[in-house]
Amino acid sequence: MQVHPAPRFRGVFTLPGDKSISHRAALLGAMAEGATLVRNYSSAADCASTLACLRALGVEVRRDGTEVRIAGGGTSAWRPPSSVLDAENSGSTIRMLAGALAGRPFRSVLTGDESLRRRPVERVAAPLRAMGATVLTTDGKPPLTIEGGRLRGLVCDLPVASAQVKTAVLLAGLQAEGVTTVREPAPSRDHTERMLPAFGVTVEREGLSATVRGGARLRGAEVTVPGDVSSAAFFIVAALVLPDSEVRLDGVLLSPTRTAFVEVLRAMGGRVEARLEAREPEPVGSIVASSSRLHGTVVDPALVPSLIDEVPALAAAAAFAEGPFTVTGAAELRVKESDRIAALAEGLAALGVRVRELPDGLVVEGGAPLRGARVRSHGDHRIAMALSVAALAAEGGTEVEGAECVAVSFPGFYALVDRATGRA
Ligand code: S3P
Repeated sequence: MQVHPAPRFRGVFTLPGDKSISHRAALLGAMAEGATLVRNYSSAADCASTLACLRALGVEVRRDGTEVRIAGGGTSAWRPPSSVLDAENSGSTIRMLAGALAGRPFRSVLTGDESLRRRPVERVAAPLRAMGATVLTTDGKPPLTIEGGRLRGLVCDLPVASAQVKTAVLLAGLQAEGVTTVREPAPSRDHTERMLPAFGVTVEREGLSATVRGGARLRGAEVTVPGDVSSAAFFIVAALVLPDSEVRLDGVLLSPTRTAFVEVLRAMGGRVEARLEAREPEPVGSIVASSSRLHGTVVDPALVPSLIDEVPALAAAAAFAEGPFTVTGAAELRVKESDRIAALAEGLAALGVRVRELPDGLVVEGGAPLRGARVRSHGDHRIAMALSVAALAAEGGTEVEGAECVAVSFPGFYALVDRATGRA
């Protein structure tokens, strides 16, 4: 994909549904008895992977554009899949579905694309085994074989903050005997905990722990998915770093477990305002961002779990900020869709940015003009979008190799960029 410098970035956008919330709505709908209707279901390829896996388990799923209807027969209606379940690029699909399958009395094999087969799944396998499921991994990575059945409740202390693992254990816990508690070292996104009550299930939350009771019966529900705030991050950064720019994003998710990047951008001098319009079941509202003079900052490592997916967008912003921008405590980035620390360091350096890799983060010394170059996405949607946003404010054109991977989370990204830059 050729990305040309843009004079400005403007417009009002309503972004597709949030990827994390869409996965959960589909999974809970498939586990529920009675019909579920999901509105504004994400257009991300990852969320289509979740629906495909559910269909392979015999779940009746109908999709009409952004509306997804699931004729829930409860988990007892799930059938052994006739072939391997392919989560493609989606870590959320493989890990969260593993939790639901741990309670099913049949064998399933889950795999994914080349990127997913390099990512850790032992973190989800270990607690599911402790609950009584048979779970085999391939050296800690997919393919993953699960033979589920009778589970017992578990008190599980997660070694790393992971919303996917937390969700997997809770979905297994709903099918277990007794009570299951998950405790995290730091707060991760809490969409599962917030959505379960809509499906008729009580979640007790206290500090960093969430508890569910086994033998739960989920009832079908209606879920309206807010706009994806992780996709919004790229538009916000584009508006900040380009001159004469302003974007407004309406109906976007404003969960504090996802918006820590906004705090960081503000600490960098970014003009970003959020207006909260609804609080339940998830905070939703609009965000306005406009051209700003940015300076570097040190990101508090305690915030990292709440901005982990936004580090690529923040690094793109940092490339235009005066003085050093430092993020640490983000070693998890090395095991995302790509090694995001290495991929960002490589891509930003190619654009002329001074950047230093740390074992668990990055230092970006911004402020010097960027020059267009050939950069690699490493097959990672967020790397492609971060480098594309940086390229919009560079001098000269940039070729982003493998940019089609943006479809993993945001298929319309380049079309909307063209609209915002006045090219469409
Ligand atoms: C997600 C959780 C995070 C995040 C991922 C989506 C989720 O992963 O990076 O993009 O929807 O629960 P971890 O659970 O590995 O932290």
